[in-house]
Amino acid sequence: MAGERVFPPGFLWGAATAAYQVEGAVADDGRGPSIWDVFAAVPGAVEGGVSGATACDHYRRYREDVALLGDLGLGAYRFSTAWPRVMPDGRTPNPAGLAFYDRLVDSLLERGITPVVTLYHWDLPQALEDRGGWLERDIASWFTDYATTVHSRLGDRVTYWTTLNEPFCSAFLGYGTGVHAPGLRDPKLALRAAHHHLLAHGHATRALRDAGAASLSIALNFSPALPDGPDDHDAVRRFDALHNRFFLDPVVGRGYPADLLADVAHLDALEPAIRDGDLDVIAEPIDWLGVNYYAPTRVTSLPDRTEPSNCPLPGLRGMSVLPPQGPLTVTGWEQHPESLTTLLVHLGSHGLPLVVAENGAAFPDTIDPDGRVRDRDRVRYLAEHLRAVHAAIEAGADVRGYLAWSLLDNFEWASGYGPRFGVVHVDFASQRRIVKDSGWFLAEVAARNAVPA
Ligand code: NOJ
Repeated sequence: MAGERVFPPGFLWGAATAAYQVEGAVADDGRGPSIWDVFAAVPGAVEGGVSGATACDHYRRYREDVALLGDLGLGAYRFSTAWPRVMPDGRTPNPAGLAFYDRLVDSLLERGITPVVTLYHWDLPQALEDRGGWLERDIASWFTDYATTVHSRLGDRVTYWTTLNEPFCSAFLGYGTGVHAPGLRDPKLALRAAHHHLLAHGHATRALRDAGAASLSIALNFSPALPDGPDDHDAVRRFDALHNRFFLDPVVGRGYPADLLADVAHLDALEPAIRDGDLDVIAEPIDWLGVNYYAPTRVTSLPDRTEPSNCPLPGLRGMSVLPPQGPLTVTGWEQHPESLTTLLVHLGSHGLPLVVAENGAAFPDTIDPDGRVRDRDRVRYLAEHLRAVHAAIEAGADVRGYLAWSLLDNFEWASGYGPRFGVVHVDFASQRRIVKDSGWFLAEVAARNAVPA
């Protein structure tokens, strides 16, 4: 039909969530505490003093949520397994926790929905944090044991696996800026934690492959850097090295970027953490790359303009992060679909199939008197970004799927329940769900395998 941009046959349409953001039921069936349960209890850590203790009650309402996915005709659901549910002490399997994911996978498959399982979406068992968490090199084998435990239970029905979600955030926000759990603030710790995340990814990928897992990936969050002026190219390089290439390059076998190693050398933390053979492990081949994209970052070389809350690594020199431009989302993020096209085209040049594993936006939704949520801003955001994905495919990027963030309004980490990212509205008091106009829009896109031009 004229006026549409058609996606390749078999393109995977879906929506994503993460365990701590939606499940609730934090003490049910033997689940142990995670670093997010502990962090959320620290006064001032989370907006409004809230936590994921109830969230969307997805642990109990998963059948209803799977039915929603089915009603929307979405072919894929990306969710994460909670390590503290599967292994409450981080090391010992909990049959009741595993059984939940068993039921979830079965109910997805009953409706023909493909599960896309993320093994780590930031909810480390507190028991492992007490043993050093991501600062401890042994976490690579702890994570591998956990990953193979989940795989041994679900691997007969799950094809698509993602080891880690956004290690940049769990390392840099968790151990560098302290905005996320466990709330530590030390750039040296952030660098060490980042290396251990990558090591854990590599070891687990190798073990999962040996165990027969068919389709393996990691989901990285990319924020293309935009220069403020003609003199800002070095700032762009520095930000890109730390935020984007730090994780991508070793995973695709290129090792840590030389310029990054030089930029952080004064902190004397990354190179001391790397041992012989680590880079080979991290370069274990993957089958596809999960691309999480929300917004670009504007940077300058001018030294005194850093927005403290945006500085990705305290102690990084030679660049400052500038305020975003244009109409912003509720989380203060710039809307810049063009950056998604450039990003995907660039990433596609590495030869890996790509899946947009997260993309979406928070807007101030309201429920109209007729009960409908007319989230025009989100519909526009999704349409623009889907056209950007389509443009990247036309330019040669091998993009296989698009998973909207998020299926449900949920616990947005340190921002609490304020920012709503869902294509389905959740009333957290009653747990009532209402499909937003953006949900119906996504359904239409999935049904037509096309986005309006
Ligand atoms: C990235 C994270 O993976 C997800 O947990 C978060 O809610 C979204 N971005 C929005 O901030």
